[in-house]
Amino acid sequence: MTYIIAQPCVDIKDKSCIEECPVDCIYEGNRMLYIQPDECVDCGACEPVCPVEAIYYEDDVPSQWKDFSKVNTEFFVELGSPGGAAKVGLTNSDHPNVVSLPPKE
Ligand code: F3S
Ligand code: F3S
Repeated sequence: MTYIIAQPCVDIKDKSCIEECPVDCIYEGNRMLYIQPDECVDCGACEPVCPVEAIYYEDDVPSQWKDFSKVNTEFFVELGSPGGAAKVGLTNSDHPNVVSLPPKE
């Protein structure tokens, strides 16, 4: 199990979550951030600081955003497990499901 970031992060990218993560496993895409599921230690520190409530424990993701578990996992198919988001920086990519979302007002 892992924590995941869901649709409310898209086009917001507040990034408060990054400051809280003890293992630096929250990676930046163009339109949202993604949690590396193999690196996340399930500490829960990131979840309460997100101002738009985008972060959920995998079992608790609201039904309308259930596919974001897959979105977070699949984002790392190419990237793998870099072992730290700071050194990776902006990845300049997004999961295809996120690319196809309409721009947030
Ligand atoms: Fe996104 Fe919330 Fe983090 S908006 S960048 S998940 S603090
Ligand atoms: Fe990191 Fe803990 Fe969240 S390991 S991604 S702050 S649950």
